[in-house]
Amino acid sequence: MTQELAPTLRDQSAAPSAGWWRDAVIYQVYVRSFADSDGDGIGDLRGVRERLPHLADLGVDAVWLTPFYASPQADGGYDVADYRSVDPLFGELSDADDLVREAHRLGLRVIVDIVPNHTSDQHAWFRAAVDGGPDAPERALYHFRPGRGPDGDLPPNDWESVFGGPAWTRTDAGDWYLHLFAPEQPDLNWEHPAVREEFESILRFWLDLGVDGFRIDVAHGMVKAEGLPDIGLREQAKMIGAQVLPFFDQDGVHEIHRSWRLLLDSYEGQRIGVAEAWAPTSERLALYVRPDELHQAFNFQFLTCAWDAAAMRQVIDSSLAATASVGAPTTWVLSNHDVVRHTTRYGGGAQGLRRARAAALLTLALPGSAYLYQGEELGLPEVADLPDGVRQDPAFFRGDGQDGLRDGCRVPIPWSGTAAPYGFGPGASWLPQPAAWAGLSVEAQTGDPRSMLELYRSALALRKELSGLGDGGMEWLPAPEGVLVFSRPGVVCTLNTLAEEVELPVPGRPVLSSGALEFGGGAVRLPGETCVWWAV
Ligand code: BGC
Repeated sequence: MTQELAPTLRDQSAAPSAGWWRDAVIYQVYVRSFADSDGDGIGDLRGVRERLPHLADLGVDAVWLTPFYASPQADGGYDVADYRSVDPLFGELSDADDLVREAHRLGLRVIVDIVPNHTSDQHAWFRAAVDGGPDAPERALYHFRPGRGPDGDLPPNDWESVFGGPAWTRTDAGDWYLHLFAPEQPDLNWEHPAVREEFESILRFWLDLGVDGFRIDVAHGMVKAEGLPDIGLREQAKMIGAQVLPFFDQDGVHEIHRSWRLLLDSYEGQRIGVAEAWAPTSERLALYVRPDELHQAFNFQFLTCAWDAAAMRQVIDSSLAATASVGAPTTWVLSNHDVVRHTTRYGGGAQGLRRARAAALLTLALPGSAYLYQGEELGLPEVADLPDGVRQDPAFFRGDGQDGLRDGCRVPIPWSGTAAPYGFGPGASWLPQPAAWAGLSVEAQTGDPRSMLELYRSALALRKELSGLGDGGMEWLPAPEGVLVFSRPGVVCTLNTLAEEVELPVPGRPVLSSGALEFGGGAVRLPGETCVWWAV
């Protein structure tokens, strides 16, 4: 349906060897918190479409939309009841079509989320599996097992849900079904050919509508170790964890990704697959982006890296080496809808903001592709003090054991005005926005050269101008402890991670800095927690 591409997109498609994704900056839209067009307090697809000019103006290359499919919303839409329809909360199918068409007109590509590890418990397959009793053929599409113990009243194994509590729920028939996430998210059995066929058909449905690719949710989880063996007393899965577990990162998942790559490649226009895979090492992660598998994988080791120059350098080196070994580009990401926003992780307040500004310039100077999470361009902090009554993260309702509840990074973003909902929509937003956000709105920051928004706009504009940024190589240059200096073709990037200023020889002409610089005697005084791009 939507094959009209803006000139920029068409040009890139004409040069298949380059691969647009290799250095694309991709902006994550958490749909329910981006822009609300109808006043129900929940962001929707029309809202996203109306705000696309902000993203084109920001200078990103693509948007990734979180799930907007028919869903009871037990996990913010990651519990899909019908993969081919739009939930009425977010609009209808024609809104998705209009959004893709308009994004393409503005030169933006569109990636949608696909959730293959589990369905909603309201999906027709799971309803048939449960309602049809123990002999229902649909039970084979999921993992149903008898319980342990004399009465079968103990779960079939010791696996725990990522959201806390056992990964099994008992049915009225007495057997149990597996859910690595919430009970409302039963895991599919990917050994069953009907599951594979159905997902290929779903991918085609959205590719035919014109999407440019998929962010594959839990891309490391679809295949479980044979026999579903116990784990023992080891620590079990956490959100974005890296443990070795019998239900994550099994070799069998790669065969699925290979078949999806063939399907993606059968379409024109360089459609891509992006793995959300939690792998124990950079090397294991690189397996997902071998030439015949997916195009990108999120680099969570970078996201979880401490604010420490040596640690950052180590993660950068290991990420680049691992992806280079398979010829794929590395991705860089600091925040998403599952983690505490990085201004807060970096210490919050003025320090968090200073580090976040520097981290933005570091991220956008590294070789490869970068993912931005909505609101980071505004420097939004985590909202820590949400009242319990408004929280919706299923982890909140499933006991402790989780070190991050995810509602605080999902508060709707401020666009304009001096009072909530700050232009998010006509009515109150589904999560309340802090009073302090008036000064952080797009409107308040536009035109202020010291604002986070203008820093991102400048960085993204320069990334297009300075051809040495983006894909390609990098070289470390000598630097004092606590400082990182590296060169890209035509550009040097200097990052001072220390709290105090450092003096460095001037490496070139400063083109962008996250803080104020002072020069004298051929040297520059780089303030603490500051990153600078130099043209050379
Ligand atoms: C998504 C989460 C979701 C989980 C289960 C992920 O990793 O990013 O938001 O809760 O998958 O679908």
